[in-house]
Amino acid sequence: MRVPFLDLKLQYHSIRDEIAEAVQRVLDSSQYILGPEVSAFEEAFAKAQGASHCIGTNNGTSALHLALWALGIKSGDEVILPVNTFIATAEAVLLCGATPIFVDHDAYYTLEPEDVERRITRRTRAIIAVHLYGQIAEMPEISSIARKHGLLLIEDAAQAHLASLNGKRAGAWGQATGFSFYPGKNLGAYGEAGAVLTEDAQLAEKMRRIRDHGSEQKYTHVIAGHNYRLEALQGAILSVKLKHLEAWTQMRRKHAAQYDKLLAGIPELSLPNVREGAGHVYHLYVIQANKRDELRTFLEEREISSGMHYPIPLHIQPCFKNLGYKEGAFPRAERAAKRILSLPMYPELTDKQIQFVAESIREFYAEKGGQS
Ligand SMILES: Cc1ncc(COP(=O)(O)O)c(C=O)c1O
Repeated sequence: MRVPFLDLKLQYHSIRDEIAEAVQRVLDSSQYILGPEVSAFEEAFAKAQGASHCIGTNNGTSALHLALWALGIKSGDEVILPVNTFIATAEAVLLCGATPIFVDHDAYYTLEPEDVERRITRRTRAIIAVHLYGQIAEMPEISSIARKHGLLLIEDAAQAHLASLNGKRAGAWGQATGFSFYPGKNLGAYGEAGAVLTEDAQLAEKMRRIRDHGSEQKYTHVIAGHNYRLEALQGAILSVKLKHLEAWTQMRRKHAAQYDKLLAGIPELSLPNVREGAGHVYHLYVIQANKRDELRTFLEEREISSGMHYPIPLHIQPCFKNLGYKEGAFPRAERAAKRILSLPMYPELTDKQIQFVAESIREFYAEKGGQS
C-alpha cells in the first residue's frame, strides 16, 4: 500500500468546484494583487484566530521579517529563537541586521524557558517562540520572561494555524505573529503566501505600509519598505480553504490519536508529548526512533514516505558557522535531530494507511531489534 508523506491532490479534488469559482472570480475582476479578495481573507483569518488585525504577505518568511522590521529590530540587536526550527525564523532576524541567539528545546520541541532566560544579554531585544509541529510553546512562562526583561515577543505560527493553549490561540501572546501558507501547511495556498497577526492597530498600519513599498498613497512613500504583498488569487483560494480548516484539523487530531494508540508500547520509540491544555494541530506527527535511518529505508521499501524536521539544528548549519557555536552546545536538539521521524500526516489519510504504517514499524523492530 502506498502511503505518501503528503497528498495535496486529494484535498484539491475535494474542493475543486469551490476553488474554480474563486479563481474565476479573481480572473474576471482583473485585480490581481491585494484588493477585496485579500482584505476578505485577512478579515476571515483574523477572526478564525481571534485576532484584531491581519496583514497578508507573499510568504511566511516575509511575514516574520515584516513583523521584526516594523517592531524596530536592527543591527546590533540580539533575538532569541529555538535552534530546532526551519531556517526562515533565523533568516528573518538576519534580514534586519540583527543576530540570532539559539536556545535548546523542551520536551515538546519548543523553546526551553530556562535556557531562554540564561541567554538574555544587554543586547537582547526580542524572543521568537516557534510553535513547532503544531503545538504552542510554553507561552505563559515565556511571556513573563519577556515582560520581566522588557523584551518584544514574536510568535512563529507557520505550523500552528488554529493551535491553542489553555483556550488561547496562536497569536494571543506576542506583539506580532507570523504565519506561512506554503502549500503543505495546515492552511496552504496554491503558491506562496503568509500573514502577520497583531492586536496593535499602529503596528498593523506600519506593517501594511512596509508591505507595499512604504506607500500611503500610490507613489507617495512615507518610508522605504518592500514588496511583500499577497496576491488576490492566493487570498481567494485561502478564503475557500479556511472554511474547511476546522474540519481538517479535527481529522489530523483523529489520525494522531490513532498513531498514538497503534504505536504505544514500542520501547524503541518516543511518541509526541502533548502539553497540558494544548490544542495541538499536528502539522507534523513526529516520533523519535532508535535506528531511525534504517527504519526510514525499511518504510520506503514498503512505499511509506517519511520526513525529518529538521535533520541539522541551526547552530551547526554551514551558513551559521560565523556565529561561533560548537557541536555539543544544544544536547537535546542534537540528540533529537538524529532520532526524529515525521510520519505521513494530512487530513485525507485513511485508517488503513495509518494501520499499515504502524504495523510496518512494529515489523521493523521485530525483525531488526531496536538498540540504537
Ligand atoms: C517554522 C517556520 N517558520 C517560517 C517558515 C517560512 O514560511 P515560508 O516558507 O512561507 O516562507 C516556515 C515554513 O516553511 C516554517 O515552518
